Amino acid sequence: MIPWEILDTASIPGSKDKLQLSRHDSEFLISIVGGGVLMGSRAHASEEALAKLACRKIAERARPRVLIGGLGMGFTLAAALHHLGSDAEVVVAELIPAVVTWNRGSLGELAGYPLEDERTTVHEGDVAKIMKVERKAFDAILLDVDNGPEGMTRKKNSWLYTMDGLTTAYTALRPKGLLATWSAGPDRDFTQRLHKAGFKVNQARVREHNNKGKLHTIWLAESGS
Ligand SMILES: C[S@@+](CC[C@H](N)C(=O)[O-])C[C@H]1O[C@@H](n2cnc3c(N)ncnc32)[C@H](O)[C@@H]1O
Repeated sequence: MIPWEILDTASIPGSKDKLQLSRHDSEFLISIVGGGVLMGSRAHASEEALAKLACRKIAERARPRVLIGGLGMGFTLAAALHHLGSDAEVVVAELIPAVVTWNRGSLGELAGYPLEDERTTVHEGDVAKIMKVERKAFDAILLDVDNGPEGMTRKKNSWLYTMDGLTTAYTALRPKGLLATWSAGPDRDFTQRLHKAGFKVNQARVREHNNKGKLHTIWLAESGS
């Protein structure tokens, strides 16, 4: 049996934990050292659905702008680019610079090098920082930074799913903007907070891989006019 090979390890800003990239044959994993798996290359249907569900609703708008947090293995970014036209702009925020480096190197092939698309702008940093300074700036914000509405990569991420975080997302969105959030499972409290923040909420359950495997949850929350 081929053993897992650790390709690289990186610090996580704002956390004592480390992130690790490993490979087993043609499969890659991004995981927290001694903790959970953030992203694997084998199953990515729900990460792509996150982009598809939101982007197909805004693709016809003039010069649509999309913010994605974070990059991971680039599947959500590649799907967003696929569902948007040539006048779109996609800003991808990635907290850990090494993840961007990995995507420019050994991981790039997995999603077809979406960082090289001229519609992509990469921001190395916290997606929350962009949401806090931008006003009516994005047609869609796609969040897949953790395993769901609680910080996994680092505790500070939990803010994104609080009332304060959701109100900030609402303010960063253009009218009828979409906040799409990925989660490993449902979370009734988070759904209620989305409603409270003023969003019209739809929830989808999507299989992780070609209609097979675990069911993941995607909230598609639309802001008002
Ligand atoms: C689950 S992976 C994303 C998978 C991605 N959707 C894909 O298609 O491959 C989560 C990513 O978010 C990044 N991340 C975690 N917290 C973040 C934050 N606050 N801002 C930006 N990126 C963050 C992680 O470093 C990791 O690369």
